[in-house]
Amino acid sequence: MALNLGFLASHNGSNMQAVIDACRAGRLDANPAVVISNNGDSGALERARNETIPWFHLSGRTHPEAEDLDREIVDTLLNHDVNLVILAGYMKKIGPVTLATFPGHIINIHPGLLPEYGGQGMYGRRVHEAVLAAGARETGVTVHVVDPIYDHGPILAQKKVRVKTSDTADTLAKRVLAVEHELYVDTIARVISGEIKLPV
Ligand code: GAR
Repeated sequence: MALNLGFLASHNGSNMQAVIDACRAGRLDANPAVVISNNGDSGALERARNETIPWFHLSGRTHPEAEDLDREIVDTLLNHDVNLVILAGYMKKIGPVTLATFPGHIINIHPGLLPEYGGQGMYGRRVHEAVLAAGARETGVTVHVVDPIYDHGPILAQKKVRVKTSDTADTLAKRVLAVEHELYVDTIARVISGEIKLPV
């Protein structure tokens, strides 16, 4: 039976869109079931509306108590029969109830080669700035299972990207993002086929 995917995204949602497109094209045997964003104005919610996928703005504004927010996120995912949670540029920590409800079944994409350039405060453009500041010659993309520690859970897939001497954070981000879109879809396809086993 096709998996139901639940997305959590904070900003543009281009990774989410790549996964949705792959579902629509039949490349992934999965249904985009629901989109949750902590940002009511996010591109991710706009994309959900365009795709007629149920969407919800759930944040510290809608639920000031962290426990209530965590519970509401879980209820929303369960109400849409989600069995795989896809973090797609989600900049908030996943709560303990969500983690306990979907053990080993929350995955994230990170714009760097973990365990380097990861951890709290290391996300998005900051990763590319740190890679350039370190003079690294390669960077890349990591897809991993989410656990209670930022950017820490088991790594499912990685792909390297060469850093050019002419790169700025913007040019690097653009090249890495294109690889993210491919690697995320490819990794989810391998999870669905059983080639990649998620920890339970
Ligand atoms: C992506 O580069 C993603 O890897 C990164 O945020 C960007 C979101 O782009 N996520 C993190 O840094 C998480 N630690 P998108 O909204 O266009 O998918």
